[in-house]
Amino acid sequence: MDKLLIAGGIPLSGEVAISGAKNAALPLLCAALLTKEPVTFTNVPHLNDIGTMLKLLAQMGVKVSREAAVPAGTQSAGAGDTVTLDAAGLDNAVAPYEMVKTMRASILVLGPLVARAGEARVSLPGGCAIGARPVDQHIKGLTAMGAEINVEQGYVHARATRLKGARLFTDMVTVTGTENLMMAACLAQGETVIENAAREPEVVDLANCLIAMGARISGAGGDVIRIQGVEALHGATHRIMPDRIETGTYLCAAAATGGEVRLTGASATSLDAVIDKLMDTGCEIVAERDAIRLKAPRRLTAVSVRTAPYPAFPTDMQAQFMAINAVADGTAVMRETIFENRFMHAVELIRLGADIKIDGNTAFVKGVAKLDGATVMATDLRASASLVIAGLVAQGETLIERIYHLDRGYEGLEQKLAALGADIRRVK
Ligand code: EPZ
Repeated sequence: MDKLLIAGGIPLSGEVAISGAKNAALPLLCAALLTKEPVTFTNVPHLNDIGTMLKLLAQMGVKVSREAAVPAGTQSAGAGDTVTLDAAGLDNAVAPYEMVKTMRASILVLGPLVARAGEARVSLPGGCAIGARPVDQHIKGLTAMGAEINVEQGYVHARATRLKGARLFTDMVTVTGTENLMMAACLAQGETVIENAAREPEVVDLANCLIAMGARISGAGGDVIRIQGVEALHGATHRIMPDRIETGTYLCAAAATGGEVRLTGASATSLDAVIDKLMDTGCEIVAERDAIRLKAPRRLTAVSVRTAPYPAFPTDMQAQFMAINAVADGTAVMRETIFENRFMHAVELIRLGADIKIDGNTAFVKGVAKLDGATVMATDLRASASLVIAGLVAQGETLIERIYHLDRGYEGLEQKLAALGADIRRVK
């Protein structure tokens, strides 16, 4: 099992390129199931989760071709891979447990398979470290569109000769729920309206690609999305949007280490809430056309956050901000309202010397003068990022175990951080 060894205390400085967004690429790859024609994606991030999704699609009969870009973590902006998927030969509408258990985003094949093939057998994703992660809203929506769905032996079995447009309302805002139902609705008979839809930029990126494929969608980015079903979709080429969570993570790392960085291929427009909060910590931030610059103050001011669906402060940035608050001046109150168990990084930060008290879904973080390196354990993707940031700040060496979590969502992490001056290396 790989580990990351970090010698902390070095302010980050310099420039790195932001990769394509994992959480846009995952639903987009599934959208290729909706047509018999090839779909090409550019700026695809080179990540383990992407590899898992491509394997899942290939075992369904989808032809996958992937041209790797220049080595991961290089300086050139948007160097991502080019991936072409051809689902003409789709002949196995099954997502098996062995593959789904490693990546719950596999549930995103459900809607497209029912819409295109009239049936699907998809393993229930099961929970993960941050919560139970049920998919009842995905099932409720497809049922409302006329699918026959039953759940047995841990699999969702769905069948529909042709889905019918319906008026859908999700009980809570769900990103992949919105994406699954929007994809299914593209080939349904008639109009589908999704109320209480997720407004995340990744939903908009997916809608833009579906429209390029011939879908008739309006309202994506708002909380009501209308889809007029069509008979078939055709091929298209789509460039994956920049990863706003990767961008936020590097901004936090530069802020926490008192550094000054420029992130290229990054878009500030999808990060308003995060940039606002970083400015409240005392950072100077300049948004260029497709880059973001940050200059940190000598000492950060603690900042309270409350996670909520887009455009509010994203849950995927909560762990990274806890690392910032661990060494900031003052006390921060951090409310996690999306997932029921997303504070596992707190106990690991405490091992590095942080002063954090957890009470239900609220964390009280009292900034300390310094953190001291130690051995810590990653538990989920963004918790791992939080530990990396803390390791970059801590005095002495920090060894982070179970970093396979990081490899799922951060392309060339140690190369990019080393390019910014960090003393970081992967050890067996
Ligand atoms: C997406 O997960 C992201 N993943 C997550 O990013 C992100 O944290 C999350 O949205 C929230 O922004 C991808 O896009 C691949 P939800 P998703 O459905 O869609 C509950 C990362 O680090 N819920 O919006 O699975 C659910 O339990 C990952 O990149 C139901 O109860 O999240 C949660 O409490 C982590 N029933 C809340 O809604 C359902 O049917 C929001 O979940 C669906 C969701």
